[in-house]
Amino acid sequence: MEQKTFYITTPIYYPSDKLHIGHAYTTVAADTLARYKKMCGYDTMFLTGSDEHGQKIERTAAQAGKKPKEYVDEIVITFKELWRKLGVDYDYFIRTTEKRHQEVVQQVFKKIYQQGDIYKGKYQGWYCTPCESFWTERQLAAEKVCPDCARAVEWVEEESYFFKLSKYADRLLEHIKQNPDFIQPESRRNEMIYFIEQGLDDLSVSRTTFDWGIPVPIDQNHVIYVWFDALSNYITAIGYLTEQEKFNHYWPADLHLVGKDILRFHTIIWPIILMALDLPLPKQVFGHGWLLSKSGKMSKSKGNVVDPNRLIDQFGVDPIRYYLLREVAFGTDGTYSTEALIQRINSDLANDLGNLLNRTISMVEQYFDGVIPEAGPAEEPFDQELKDYAATTLKKVAVNMEKLKYAVAMEEIWNFIRRSNKYIDQTTPWLLAREEGKRVRLGTVLYNLLEALRIIAGVLKPFLVETPGRIGEQIGIRTMIETTSWDDLWDWGLVPAGIRVKKAEPIFPRIELDEYLAELEREDNPEQVETVDEPESKLIGFNDFTKLDLRVAEVITAEKIEKSDKLLKLRVDLGQERRQLVAGIAKHYAPDELIGRKIIIVANLEPATIFGVKSNGMILAASNQEGELTLTTVEKDISNGSRVK
Ligand code: ME8
Ligand code: MG
Repeated sequence: MEQKTFYITTPIYYPSDKLHIGHAYTTVAADTLARYKKMCGYDTMFLTGSDEHGQKIERTAAQAGKKPKEYVDEIVITFKELWRKLGVDYDYFIRTTEKRHQEVVQQVFKKIYQQGDIYKGKYQGWYCTPCESFWTERQLAAEKVCPDCARAVEWVEEESYFFKLSKYADRLLEHIKQNPDFIQPESRRNEMIYFIEQGLDDLSVSRTTFDWGIPVPIDQNHVIYVWFDALSNYITAIGYLTEQEKFNHYWPADLHLVGKDILRFHTIIWPIILMALDLPLPKQVFGHGWLLSKSGKMSKSKGNVVDPNRLIDQFGVDPIRYYLLREVAFGTDGTYSTEALIQRINSDLANDLGNLLNRTISMVEQYFDGVIPEAGPAEEPFDQELKDYAATTLKKVAVNMEKLKYAVAMEEIWNFIRRSNKYIDQTTPWLLAREEGKRVRLGTVLYNLLEALRIIAGVLKPFLVETPGRIGEQIGIRTMIETTSWDDLWDWGLVPAGIRVKKAEPIFPRIELDEYLAELEREDNPEQVETVDEPESKLIGFNDFTKLDLRVAEVITAEKIEKSDKLLKLRVDLGQERRQLVAGIAKHYAPDELIGRKIIIVANLEPATIFGVKSNGMILAASNQEGELTLTTVEKDISNGSRVK
């Protein structure tokens, strides 16, 4: 029988940004599914990479005083290093600057041009460089900020090649409606249907005002639009037009995993490129939610806390992977917090799993001199219950993995871990050890526990990268665990009797939250922080400064603005009056945590309407190049409306 294939991708990331925990989230999720499919015997292809062209990168490189290629080469090394540390076992890392990719993208462009689906015209409209996204007049409100990220858009007027999205809109809509799995989750699918039903404009797919891109093959003045270039990576990486056999083997992709902010590109532009090329569409595009940071809660260091490298150094790779997959339902937004991470480490990893292993191995040492006993016959109902629980757990994990319900799958595994701990309490081995004639029974109990641990280690393999081997090491079956297939997990009784266990340190030491926070404070001692040379800014007179009416305001209500992932609507109290304003901080603050806070606002800013919401004033916040953001506030309580000067 031919081996089934499974082709899964992550987005390819912009090397203009430092990777944060949100990127790690997608990639760990993809890695977990790829590992699971490999274990199930699929011929799996897991692709990730970097998206290296475009105006944004050109600008970022220039700011760093580097040539774009030199700049991206450096950053890509840090990407690969992070994936290595996170145990991300990709099969290929594509870079859009690699020669094969560039050549194939040119051929794709040319083919679509020659069949008449790309034509030359003039682009007049708005462009958001951070998002590399075009916007029409009707998509923007009066103040010309990007509907996605609320930053200023730029007017662009240039000769451009256009791709006939409009021609394919009906076919695409039909496909989406006929294939309920094509866009997931359901709520996002409906959003996309609604978006397409509003009508699709032809898409500008070339730019002339900068150079850092793949040249349009038929016109050297143009470079190909970065999203056209980037999306094509999914086919160039597996050999479209260069290794046709490999391409046919893996295409269509089984799953593109993307964040909800880029779902639109993947469910409109990408399928239409594929239709124009006469290629089948991917089976599924899944748009997951965001991992937000809960600012202010921890310490000044809050920004650094969400740097995945630092987290891995502090807590180890598996606690981070565990937390990412377990804490937030994949699909919805979630808030990262180190308190919650430490909580998970202590209760789930150290307590439930660590103790099960520790207790079991200790008892084998103590009662059988470290030699694994034979299992005797099942004597009590809970012997069979434990076995049945293992099988049921495997079934439930499999079902949930198909739906990308990682958190639920892990919950099922932890139910089995807790069930195994309960088995110890039910069978009371310490009493059996004291009774004459219970030696066989005691052996059976310990054997069953070791067997449960073998299955637990095996079922954890897709999720955690070090722990399964470490559990295997202590039982004395590391190789068996490392090579186990999903099918092997269903057989009860594979741990060989007669071998020696190897007791070791607890696999997950407990972490004291207070000590951890204290250590963070020490590490973040400002005296040790290097200062960054800021470019000298232009001086202003004192009079200019006094034109600003800065006030202390207290947040009364805060809510998300529908259809925007970045904006919050706030009502604030200014002492004499209350105001409504819009703030682009939704990725950094949950609405609830803002209520009651005293913040600083610019009170005499011209009113604006953003996303249809009136905004009368602007909040002040500090942000850095890593995209971290924190609100400015007052150091001591002071009445609302107080002037800041
Ligand atoms: O968009 N939580 O690249 P990118 C969860 N190059 N996911 C997050 C996140 C967060 N806080 N922040 C970002 C691009 N992401 C393009 C992709 S694909 C052909 C081209 C996710 O570096 C985001 O949702 O901006 C998206 O899936 C990915 O990181 C994009 O990163
Ligand atoms: Mg982005």
